[in-house]
Amino acid sequence: MIIHPVKSIQGEINVPGDKSISHRAIMLGALSKGITNIKGFLMGEDCLSTIRCFRDMGIDIEINDSLVTVNGRGLHGLKKPENELYVGNSGTTLRLMSGILAPQDFDCIITGDDSIKSRPMKRIIDPLTKMGANIVSIESNNKAPLKIIGSKLHNITHNSFVASAQVKSCIILASLYTENDTKIIEPVLSRNHTEIMLNYFGGNITTEGSTITSTPVKELYAKDINIPGDISSAAFFMVACLITKNSQLVIKNVGINPTRDGIITVLKAMNGDISLLNEREINGELVADIKVKSSKLSGTVIDKDIIPALIDEIPVIAVAACFAEGKTIIKDAQELKVKESNRIETMVTELSKMGADIIGTDDGMIISHSPNLRGATVKSYNDHRVAMSLAIAGLVAEGKTDINESECIDISFPGFYNSLQNISDL
Ligand code: S3P
Repeated sequence: MIIHPVKSIQGEINVPGDKSISHRAIMLGALSKGITNIKGFLMGEDCLSTIRCFRDMGIDIEINDSLVTVNGRGLHGLKKPENELYVGNSGTTLRLMSGILAPQDFDCIITGDDSIKSRPMKRIIDPLTKMGANIVSIESNNKAPLKIIGSKLHNITHNSFVASAQVKSCIILASLYTENDTKIIEPVLSRNHTEIMLNYFGGNITTEGSTITSTPVKELYAKDINIPGDISSAAFFMVACLITKNSQLVIKNVGINPTRDGIITVLKAMNGDISLLNEREINGELVADIKVKSSKLSGTVIDKDIIPALIDEIPVIAVAACFAEGKTIIKDAQELKVKESNRIETMVTELSKMGADIIGTDDGMIISHSPNLRGATVKSYNDHRVAMSLAIAGLVAEGKTDINESECIDISFPGFYNSLQNISDL
């Protein structure tokens, strides 16, 4: 992808559907009795991997333009897949699906691409094993591929060492097949889309602070779902608009769930002119239009409890920080090292090539005001959010930015380049 500097960002846009909610809509639709119609589904590669895996387990899923229809077969309706289940690049598919597979009456193998095979799975293997699951890392390295032999599970209380919605959701999904209440205690409440959607489908999940209790129910019942735009995708345009001169943008219909809206809090703390319009609730999820105007940003400290609410947005926050007066310090974000790439290393290396004053630390980054970015040849390490963050930097850098390995953007944001063209002179 080649990016040239733009004069300004203007207009109104929609971003593709929320990735986390799209995955869950397929999974819970498949486990419910009846038909789930999904509007606004993210047709990105990760979510298509979830569709492929559930089709491989006998679920009939139709795609008609942007409408996805899942013919749910109930909690006990999955069939043994004929081959290995392949999740591609999708950590959410692998971790959440493991919780569903552990209590089935068949065995199977789940695997994915090289990035997936390097990501930590002990965080789900341990709690599932505690529940009675038979789940083994085939290479004995606590990573995928995983062999799961369906077993009878029981409830647990799990103290999670990390605020991870993938771990929490894996355990919640497994708990649907047990007899008593399962409790998960998180250090900070992570994104709660699974809890919201399960309750919408007739499940029984309660939350007190960061303790989640899952009470098993006999059956889930299909319901139609409207998926809002992904705040993690909106984040790229929010930052683009803030850092280009004379810009104003409205991003329509974006999910602003409080467990996901850390990007708004932080950009406002950096003096960003951001307002929420038309706030409403859809299927239990908060949604709004986000209005952004060019702003003179200032540095901030981002740490502790807010980190899980903006973990996926840190690469683009690093770009915003280059344009903020003073220093921006990001701490307590060691989870960045085990995302699709080591995002501390990859963002520091690539933004440095563009002239950013950015230093990696053990649990984050320190970025100093360095607004005179220059276009460069950079690469994404096949990490979609790294590729898009570098593209945003390219919009305000001098000269041409050439981003190698940019095809990975299709994982979460097909049409990203066209959307940028629609709101600028790119
Ligand atoms: C996700 C949870 C987060 C996030 C990922 C999607 C989800 O991962 O980074 O992009 O849909 O549950 P962790 O659970 O590893 O924090």
